[in-house]
Amino acid sequence: MENKNYLFPDFDKLIFGGDYNPEQWRHTPEIWDEDMRLMKLAHWNEATLGVFSWAELEPQEGVYDFSVPDAIFEKAEKNGLKIILATPSGAKPRWMAEKYPETMRTADDRHRALYGRRHNHCFSSPVYREKIANINRLLAKRYAHSPALLCWHISNEVNGECHCEHCRRAFVEFLRKKYDNDIEKLNLQWWTRFWSHRYDNFEQAEPPSSIGENAVHGLTIDWKRFVTAQTADFMKHEIAAIKEYSQKPITTNLMGFFTGIDYRELAKTVDFVSWDNYPNWELPWGDVGQASWIGMTHDCMRSLKRKNFLLMESTPSLVNWKDINKLARPGKMRISSLQAIAHGSDSVQYFQWRKSRGSSEKLHGAVVDHYGKEDTRVFSEVAALGEELEKLSAVAGTEVISKAAILYDWDTIWALQDMQGMQKNGKKYGEATHLHYGAFHRRGINVDLIGRKDSYDEYDVIVAPMMYICEEETAGRLASFVRQGGTLVGTYAMAQVNENDLCHLGGWPCGVLMDVFGLRAEELDTLYPEESVKINAYGEEYTAKDYCEILKVKDATVLGTYGSEFYKNTPCFTVNEYGKGKAYYVAFRDKSGTFTDKLIGEISADKKLPTAINGKEIPKGVTAKIREGAGEKYLFLLNFSGKEQTMELDGEYTVITTGEKISSAYLPLNGGLVLKA
Ligand code: GAL
Repeated sequence: MENKNYLFPDFDKLIFGGDYNPEQWRHTPEIWDEDMRLMKLAHWNEATLGVFSWAELEPQEGVYDFSVPDAIFEKAEKNGLKIILATPSGAKPRWMAEKYPETMRTADDRHRALYGRRHNHCFSSPVYREKIANINRLLAKRYAHSPALLCWHISNEVNGECHCEHCRRAFVEFLRKKYDNDIEKLNLQWWTRFWSHRYDNFEQAEPPSSIGENAVHGLTIDWKRFVTAQTADFMKHEIAAIKEYSQKPITTNLMGFFTGIDYRELAKTVDFVSWDNYPNWELPWGDVGQASWIGMTHDCMRSLKRKNFLLMESTPSLVNWKDINKLARPGKMRISSLQAIAHGSDSVQYFQWRKSRGSSEKLHGAVVDHYGKEDTRVFSEVAALGEELEKLSAVAGTEVISKAAILYDWDTIWALQDMQGMQKNGKKYGEATHLHYGAFHRRGINVDLIGRKDSYDEYDVIVAPMMYICEEETAGRLASFVRQGGTLVGTYAMAQVNENDLCHLGGWPCGVLMDVFGLRAEELDTLYPEESVKINAYGEEYTAKDYCEILKVKDATVLGTYGSEFYKNTPCFTVNEYGKGKAYYVAFRDKSGTFTDKLIGEISADKKLPTAINGKEIPKGVTAKIREGAGEKYLFLLNFSGKEQTMELDGEYTVITTGEKISSAYLPLNGGLVLKA
């Protein structure tokens, strides 16, 4: 694959910039020149303009004022600054809510909201759609040909749902289409004879509600899918208006593991993914787990399109919306930023350039403080990183290549959320995913987080933790993955329901998967949080918590058994040879991760998965990641361990920023190195 300048053919650097809201300072426009001066000092090469600026662009219906973006585009062109231009749909002007109340959102109790906050629009409202297409067209027409325009940013962190009549009607049409206009098909898939909830016709369908229907799981999951589809449809509507005048790439900023929208579907509407990353650093128990979790989130975002992404927002110092808003310690912002790049970002971007003076975000971190000058710790750290990123330009467009994948699906999140069973409110799907991810991450093995419907072709190993939803077709694809030589890991709660959350009959994991794993999972025991069960495997004793499944093994080889409980001595860990491949089944939740680490270690060695530093030990808490392309390999070493580290490398590397040659690396506390092999 041609990998140089992957996202932006006309920009061969890592992007360094972030959200810029000059409209908040239109009464003191001299500050914009100061911004340009300071941006140069900070080595910014990009500013994201226009997020939430609708009331400035269209102060009254049909009355337009582009003076702020005009001025900023002009200054950007003069100063060689690139602009990522946002569409303003994330927050609407007050006049619109007054004149067209239908543009406001209706909650699930069917009450329409008053004007306020942001992300407050109905995505089905024809008026809102007309208004946004209009302003998007005007923006696209006006700025499409500016040399400063890098790409488009649709809305901001799109999220939320609306339960108004427009949305209900659209939902009815969505259902008609899905169930071929046959209400009996819907009744069967939603199992509505339960509690006498049968539908006579599609017109009776209502979105789930806290004051109405919320017990029909098929309805809930279809509603979630509808919300995704309607959000994607709204995005397409916004994008179509832009594309009439501009062919620049389009993105929207996602929120990592946000559960409200199936990001795999939403990602299909944009040219590349970007996302906003606000980790909890400086935890009292250390940042090792958080670093691994954030690594997993970056990998998930990259895997949505299997393409590099942008880190659209991050904080240069602290946020203001968490319970505890702690300062990132010196060096942490740098390694956190480099971590994004290590996992496939072609940018480091911040929220925000300058602190707003009033309202809810006035104390959120920014590059420029209320103090207003460059002699601050935060500004210096930002400027130093900007200078460093200029030296790392060659990394832009190189790729993260993975031979291992973890299946991660929004459908599964939704079905597990809705499921009444196991631990009612603590299924911990994310944690189960991370348990496996962490074992790869610790070894410096690249991993993709893919959807069950994605292609499996490029992978040697697939791990499917808690893959509760699995239709027969997916089961068949997993079977052929193993048959052709792949290694599959399945766990408890696997393949119990179909895509409509309807239980599979005839045994779990459904259909052919029972042959693939050579077993059947008969019962699932849920433990109280303070309980655990002994596990005997690999000649050692491990501990299970939360979940223990009882297996009926047919063809599989038993590798581990329970060591306590009424199911003592029965199998809990198996492997089955199937075709040219192997299928492991782990019937319990590993308490400490030591068992999972051993398993993933064995599988990785067996399948010869490439590690970042061939065979060399990576100290706990150090991220080691490879990006490669155009014949070059870049090794990122980032120290999240909370103490200084020294490590042996597998050969001689060059420190890109200094040209120094090293074969062992010293990493101070919160230190990081980017090396060329
Ligand atoms: C993001 C949002 C930004 C800003 C930031 C604060 O979620 O997109 O507009 O509010 O959070 O951390």
